[in-house]
Amino acid sequence: MRWLVALALAGAVWAETGSWACAPCHREIFEKQRRSGMARSSGRVGDGFEKFDAGVFRGPGARYRVTPTYEVDFGKGTFRMEYFVGSGAVGRSYAGFVDGFLFQSPASYYSARGAWGLSPGYATKPFVDVARPVERACLQCHATGARAAAGTQNAFGDPPFAEGGVGCERCHGAGESHVARTGPIINPAKLPAARRDSVCLQCHLTGAARVARAGKGPETFRVGELLSDHLMVFVGGRGGERAATDHAEQLARSRCAQASGEKLWCGTCHDAHAGSTRQAACLDCHKPHANGGADCAGCHMPKGRSREGEHVVYTDHTIARKPGSVAALKELRPFAWMAPTEREWALAEPAKNLGVLEKLAARADADAAVLVQLAQLYDGRGKGGVLYERALGLQPDHATAMANLGIYRMQEGRSREALALWTKAFAKNPGLLAVGLNLAMGQVQAGDKLGAAATLRRVLRFHPDSAQARDLLGKLL
Ligand code: HEC
Ligand code: HEC
Ligand code: HEC
Ligand code: HEC
Ligand code: HEC
Ligand code: HEC
Ligand code: HEC
Repeated sequence: MRWLVALALAGAVWAETGSWACAPCHREIFEKQRRSGMARSSGRVGDGFEKFDAGVFRGPGARYRVTPTYEVDFGKGTFRMEYFVGSGAVGRSYAGFVDGFLFQSPASYYSARGAWGLSPGYATKPFVDVARPVERACLQCHATGARAAAGTQNAFGDPPFAEGGVGCERCHGAGESHVARTGPIINPAKLPAARRDSVCLQCHLTGAARVARAGKGPETFRVGELLSDHLMVFVGGRGGERAATDHAEQLARSRCAQASGEKLWCGTCHDAHAGSTRQAACLDCHKPHANGGADCAGCHMPKGRSREGEHVVYTDHTIARKPGSVAALKELRPFAWMAPTEREWALAEPAKNLGVLEKLAARADADAAVLVQLAQLYDGRGKGGVLYERALGLQPDHATAMANLGIYRMQEGRSREALALWTKAFAKNPGLLAVGLNLAMGQVQAGDKLGAAATLRRVLRFHPDSAQARDLLGKLL
């Protein structure tokens, strides 16, 4: 059976002009920028970048083989890679559609070795995982004009973005009126410091926790605004472990940045168009010193050893006198100039802020994120149901709220309502294994064996290696 997805694209479709429109008047910048890693950070497969002679590797539960037609064959099934993510300076990850939903490939390409291998983070799974959703955030950082559908984790238009890679307007804002020569365009370097930095931080600050402001998120940010009006980023935590894509966090903690006011920023050392580095930038502020040498960064910004993971800070941006002497933060705290409210603090560290969440949830204007977070803390005590209900009143498509409220309804003996919730949640998020299995078991209980079998076949379409789904289906037939 072929399942159709009929979902409207979310909110405003990317209405910007597209980088090509800038080319006639800014030819040199256009051509330089097109060659950068950023501009080539996503696209349709088949640009001739990969080699396929080292396409076989072992992983959990299977032997994988990648074919020159971008199929990952893992014995029990195949996964078709349609889009790449990452220019390949380090490596590339891949995504493919299943029934309109975009999933990550279990196979990635590792440029240094010229070989295919298991994607980062997949070795921990005991089974073949082809149902890891490509979250919106992924294409929000790696592409321009991501075309996500409303109310689901990972339904996208095809192609899933208006433009592959980081286009001009991601750093300059909408260019339509400027192209028509009727209006201005933003030059990030001329913005006040925090707004200037926000342009790069939207993609270069992963942090330890990214908490969307109520009703906002990285996708509502526009060049010229403060990122923190849309997204609050917390850094540190994790017992001091260094994090991914945290060049900005490291730089903010350097003496150079702290002592030079707002003068030092990414653009001091990097040409944002070429993605290149101006080695002489140090000499804007420092004189060479005795027993030093010309390669300032070589000593003060050493490189890490391995660069196989996709999100590694390879070059130390703490610029220390003695490299490694700026210890990573043990405690969670907001990034440099960001000033979270108690709502964002509570969502960043929910277990520590039960009281705050309760207070916020008691207010009439509580938002869905707060209600669902508190409900999850209450689940252990079986008290979350009412909160999920309220969250669904505000955001009827909230997958977690639907999935978990279904469990309460089942326990209360209101199985018809439970099945309705799970059916809806599963239709919009078929990658959610637990929801699919719950729905199937509920259907069995209700005597609907045919429905259950259909659900399990759909589960297996997305999770071909799920032993639970196979066992259950076996018992039904
Ligand atoms: C029809 C020709 C034309 C097109 C098309 C065009 N520009 Fe420009 N652009 C100019 C001219 C001329 C200037 C310098 C005068 C000015 O600032 O308007 C300029 C200046 C700029 C500046 C510097 C602004 C500043 O304040 O420093 C930026 C940034 C810029 N353009 C970006 C873009 C982008 C991005 C696009 C594509 C969306 C684009 N331009 C398309 C002609 C064009
Ligand atoms: C829309 C997201 C986005 C924005 C905005 C952005 N970057 Fe990037 N940047 C990326 C991604 C993604 C990569 C990794 C590219 C790859 O290799 O696939 C990257 C890579 C880089 C690199 C490494 C060299 C390269 O081109 O691959 C530098 C340097 C860099 N960015 C600097 C900046 C600076 C400076 C700014 C702000 C003026 C900025 N970036 C804004 C997403 C972004
Ligand atoms: C917050 C923004 C952000 C998100 C979200 C994000 N990335 Fe990245 N990614 C980056 C930046 C910035 C770099 C460059 C970092 C560097 O060079 O150290 C990068 C680098 C990469 C690279 C290595 C590219 C190269 O240089 O060869 C791959 C592959 C990659 N990302 C894949 C993904 C995938 C797949 C997802 C989603 C599942 C994702 N990223 C989510 C910002 C992001
Ligand atoms: C990753 C962010 C980023 C992207 C993508 C980007 N720019 Fe820029 N652009 C900047 C920054 C930062 C400056 C300011 C450079 C400076 O003066 O230090 C700038 C400056 C400019 C200027 C004016 C100054 C100059 O160098 O002439 C023009 C014109 C321009 N960009 C055009 C473009 C066009 C056209 C594209 C797409 C082909 C593009 N930019 C893509 C970040 C970006
Ligand atoms: C915008 C100006 C600026 C730039 C560019 C800059 N620095 Fe600095 N840096 C400073 C200031 C200001 C200090 C603090 C000086 C002091 O404390 O006396 C500093 C401090 C330092 C220190 C001492 C750190 C410590 O742990 O005490 C080192 C090392 C250093 N810089 C190296 C570099 C290198 C290497 C580069 C280039 C990769 C660089 N800086 C670029 C402004 C800058
Ligand atoms: C004081 C100079 C300086 C500043 C400021 C600076 N960088 Fe870098 N950055 C470097 C150097 C040096 C490298 C190594 C370049 C190389 O090896 O070619 C680098 C490398 C990178 C890379 C490539 C991946 C890696 O880790 O090697 C990215 C991405 C990057 N920087 C992002 C940023 C961002 C984002 C900012 C602003 C938050 C920033 N940088 C500010 C000097 C700087
Ligand atoms: C061969 C490695 C090496 C090179 C190359 C190097 N440094 Fe250093 N630098 C050091 C060491 C080691 C110290 C710490 C000295 C100490 O604290 O006893 C230092 C200290 C510093 C300091 C802080 C001490 C002070 O003088 O106030 C600054 C600033 C600095 N270096 C900047 C630079 C700049 C700029 C360059 C490039 C022109 C550079 N260094 C090149 C090794 C190097």
